[in-house]
Amino acid sequence: MAGLKKARRLTDPADQAPHRPLRSFGRIRGRALKPRQADLITTLLPRLAIPPGALDPRQLAPGAREIWLEIGFGGGEHLAGQAARNPDLLLLGAEPFVNGLGSALRHIAENDLANVRLHAGDARELLAALPDASICRVFILFPDPWPKARHQKRRLVQPALAREIARVLSPGGTLRIATDWADYADQCLRVITATPGLVWTAECANDWRSPPADHISTRYELKRLGDCAPIFLEFARL
Ligand SMILES: C[S@@+](CC[C@H](N)C(=O)[O-])C[C@H]1O[C@@H](n2cnc3c(N)ncnc32)[C@H](O)[C@@H]1O
Repeated sequence: MAGLKKARRLTDPADQAPHRPLRSFGRIRGRALKPRQADLITTLLPRLAIPPGALDPRQLAPGAREIWLEIGFGGGEHLAGQAARNPDLLLLGAEPFVNGLGSALRHIAENDLANVRLHAGDARELLAALPDASICRVFILFPDPWPKARHQKRRLVQPALAREIARVLSPGGTLRIATDWADYADQCLRVITATPGLVWTAECANDWRSPPADHISTRYELKRLGDCAPIFLEFARL
């Protein structure tokens, strides 16, 4: 039984493809989608989907003042909330979890948002397709914690991801990471501050203990599943 489980793990195509990073997300499908969400996946997602391959995101919204990216937007509360607050910006979002996509599409449709585009997959594919210095803000809110020691190599925030974020951020751009797992916050600080071009902007404890003024709470954040209060880390691209 253990052998079978191991064989399944080893044949996970996401882990086997050459040069691909380890899979950082859990399941990509949960319970059956509600009919409205299933319908939006069929009808709205194709219209909002970011085309595959090399991408100049300005061509997706030529008039946009800035382009922001949310990695792992889950149910899309933050992505849709920021898009509604900032109609002059383009919001890109990446998320492989189909139920999250369904929920985000519902928020987008209900609020009639015209400034969101989605990648229904691994954010690392989208990052690789983006040109240097093309994004003003990146958000990673409550990434999968993978708390067991043997799973921690699956954590999303790793040096390679940090280098890619530094590459796509424009000078003066920012990266926000939030987590409620203390050792993941430590890992993020270690990884990001070791990345050339990125610096931590906190000046006092309140800067990481209190939600930033423009933060929009997420579904995962409200579940309070971590081992500490939410920590908000803000980094700037030099
Ligand atoms: C713990 S959930 C948090 C979701 C949301 N940010 C929130 O706070 O409610 C982490 C999310 O990140 C997504 N995720 C993990 N790895 C990812 C990757 N490489 N690219 C895009 N999304 C990813 C997962 O599918 C999951 O929905």
